[in-house]
Amino acid sequence: MKKILDLISDEMMQAFEQAGYARTLGTVTLSNRPDLCEYQCNGAMAGAKQYKKAPIMIANDVAAKLCDSLVFEKVEAVAPGFLNLTLKKEFVGNYVKNMRADKKYGLEETKAPATIIIDYGGPNIAKPLHIGHLRSAIIGESVKRILRYIGHNVIGDVHLGDWGLQMGLVMNELKVRKPELIYFDETYTGVYPEEPPFTLSELEELYPFASKRSKEDDAYKADAMNCTFKLQSGVAGYRALWNHIIAISVTDLKKNYARLNVEFDLWNGESAVHNMIPEMVESMKKEGYAYLSEGALVVDVKEETDTKEIPPCMILKSDGAALYNTTDLATIMMRMEQNKPDKIIYMTDKRQELYFEQVFRCARKTKLVKPETELKFIGFGTMNGKDGKPFKTRDGGVMRLESLIQEIHDKMFKKITENRSIENEEASQTAETVALAALKYGDLSNQASKDYIFDIDRFTSSEGDTGPYILYTIVRIKSILAKYTENGGDVQAVCSEIKPPVNQSEKQLMMELAKFNASVETACEEYAPHKLCAYIYDLANALNHFYHDTKILAEEDAEKKAGWIALLTLTRDVLETSIDLLGFSAPERM
Ligand code: ARG
Repeated sequence: MKKILDLISDEMMQAFEQAGYARTLGTVTLSNRPDLCEYQCNGAMAGAKQYKKAPIMIANDVAAKLCDSLVFEKVEAVAPGFLNLTLKKEFVGNYVKNMRADKKYGLEETKAPATIIIDYGGPNIAKPLHIGHLRSAIIGESVKRILRYIGHNVIGDVHLGDWGLQMGLVMNELKVRKPELIYFDETYTGVYPEEPPFTLSELEELYPFASKRSKEDDAYKADAMNCTFKLQSGVAGYRALWNHIIAISVTDLKKNYARLNVEFDLWNGESAVHNMIPEMVESMKKEGYAYLSEGALVVDVKEETDTKEIPPCMILKSDGAALYNTTDLATIMMRMEQNKPDKIIYMTDKRQELYFEQVFRCARKTKLVKPETELKFIGFGTMNGKDGKPFKTRDGGVMRLESLIQEIHDKMFKKITENRSIENEEASQTAETVALAALKYGDLSNQASKDYIFDIDRFTSSEGDTGPYILYTIVRIKSILAKYTENGGDVQAVCSEIKPPVNQSEKQLMMELAKFNASVETACEEYAPHKLCAYIYDLANALNHFYHDTKILAEEDAEKKAGWIALLTLTRDVLETSIDLLGFSAPERM
């Protein structure tokens, strides 16, 4: 469906044309004086010079052409030359009725579907998932869903950190503690046990311990680097041990992401491209892009127009070891071969911006991607505590994601069970659903690039611009619909019966609903879930005003009531679709 604003502009443009003025002057925008009108057009002001006429004369000419418009109820030419517009009830009602009949509520799918990879995981194996990975999962999942809804072929890749020094640290520490393990016997040629020699919690304890010690003990660190080298060069025992670590960690990661309602299509890690690195490096050398600088292999990526210093992109360290860059570049190569993406989007902390600039330039220069392949970095700000500093646990440590979710869950559970009797099981399930909405909406409603304050009291509040408020609104609609059914009504049978609005708050609700397609499009073009949040907040407010002003179930006129029920089903569906695009859902009751 065409966007409502475009339909309105079309009508206005036609009037400008009929009155003898340029069509392009007829662009309509939302009113910035909602107390006076719903929409406005400033074209008469813009045309004054060109037509050497007072703007108000142009405005009057145009208004005269719109006397019997099917779109406008009222067109007022006001000094010095504004056109204040009010829509016809039938026009709005009809638009919304058409939305009800449309599969995607008026949203048109893209005419140019692209293959897009989103790299939005980045958890590191053997280290628990922590807050630092939370934002990329939350924002990335939403961007993925929005792009997909609009019709792109989107592939989410977790891009595990599974190949660096942290793997060597874990293995080396294990070797110190259990040197007798068969994995460390390099003369062994048999098969390795299926059972891993450690549990998840043992594994989680190994990394921080080893990491700390390596910072104080150079010989220990050298051993860990040696283990990393053995792993990377394919020593069988080390590879077998590594497989155990991956298996245990990935199971745990999947559990955590599932709890966040985050799902990846690809579970590739940095390790997946290990064997592609020599080929990539060779070609960069052969083509003359890469050269040795102080022993390291680098590619220059600075450009003449740079206003700040962009250092060369390092491909190999002087000892020949691969770096974070190297795996990212080889991953681009692999993705181009396997998935042929038109676009790759990276979602990380904005502190990695310069890093990705180097990687992208290097990938372009060395022709790892096609000239038309788009490489896009989306950097996000930090989640801070109430003190304005990066969020920490009460004792000052790094908060684990699981503990954070649990904390919000417990708070919601308490709210839900307060002053009322509800089965524990149901309360717990509802708390889980609402907690996720509180967490995700609290994050997504901020512009991604900005830092924000994690305020559990505000996020879990059922009033204001919060996830729980949106869910309450949806649950309110569901409960009215359930009562309508209890009283003998048939929601399915009436749900296409939307009629022109009977009061102003119903019209407002309809006008908000009508913005769905434009809001999703903007959120998609700008990779901006916060715009979708702003949309559903306005929509929820409009619904609650309408609910406040209208005695829906008590209405005697059955047809009128049916029209409202239909409108409620559309509002519910638009809200539920939108929150699904944000990555959470609503319960049946709250
Ligand atoms: N593993 C990295 C970290 O924890 C994030 C990876 C981001 N993605 C990428 N393709 N480099 O910081």
